[in-house]
Parts: sequence; structure tokens; C-alpha cells
Amino acid sequence: MKNAMILILGLGLTAFLTATAGGVNSSGKDLVERLACLGCHSYQGKGGQKGPSWDGLGTRLTPEAIRQQIVSPRRRMPSFAHIRPEELEALVRYLSGLK
Ligand code: HEC
Repeated sequence: MKNAMILILGLGLTAFLTATAGGVNSSGKDLVERLACLGCHSYQGKGGQKGPSWDGLGTRLTPEAIRQQIVSPRRRMPSFAHIRPEELEALVRYLSGLK
């Protein structure tokens, strides 16, 4: 009985930690919305078509390549070099996690 209680507490803590980690990601997600990235990019079928889809982005590009593209894009994408360093990191973290 006591073991079951500990197990339940443990599961609760895991859920809490997962939710908190999700909160960090959601600030990157909020930025994606605020900066209107999805006007050109799509993810899981939603968004624009001007840029490449973000499906599997984290498996295709390194965080460094993602950061590079945001700060000095290769071609037709506007630069977002004006965002704050911590915003850039939140974006890179979020995008690197997209599968
Ligand atoms: C006006 C349209 C447009 C907007 C807005 C835009 N992008 Fe892009 N993005 C592109 C295009 C087009 C490319 C393809 C490469 C190029 O032309 O630079 C691209 C490429 C990328 C890539 C590389 C994708 C790959 O598969 O190689 C990343 C990462 C990216 N953009 C992130 C962002 C982020 C983050 C934002 C918002 C802060 C954003 N983009 C906003 C048009 C846009």
C-alpha cells in the first residue's frame, strides 16, 4: 500500500516535470506565433507554403543551422536578427525539437 502511494507520487512528479519542460518549449511556440513564421512555413499540415515544411525539422537541421537561418537566411526568408538573444535560443530549442 505504501509502495503504491510512492509510485503515484512519483508519477505525479514526472507529469509535473514534463509539463514544466513543455512550458519552456511553449515560449518558443509563442514566438513562432508572434513572429508569424507559419505564414510561410507549415507544421503538421497547418501553415503557409512559401517556405519548406517544418515537419521533421529537428531531424534534418542542427541547432546551429537553424540559428544561422533565422539570423542570416539563405535566400527568400526575411532575417529575424533583431530578436533578443534569449528569444533566439527559445526559438532554436523549439524548432530543434520538431520531429
Ligand atoms: C516570408 C516567408 C517566410 C517567413 C515569414 C519565415 N520564413 Fe523561414 N524560410 C522561408 C523560405 C523561403 C525558406 C527556404 C530557404 C530560403 O529561401 O532562405 C525558409 C527556411 C527556413 C528554415 C530552414 C528550413 C529547412 O528545411 O531547410 C528555417 C529553420 C526557418 N526558415 C525558420 C523560420 C522561422 C523561425 C521563422 C519565424 C521567426 C521563419 N522561418 C519565417 C520563408 C519564410
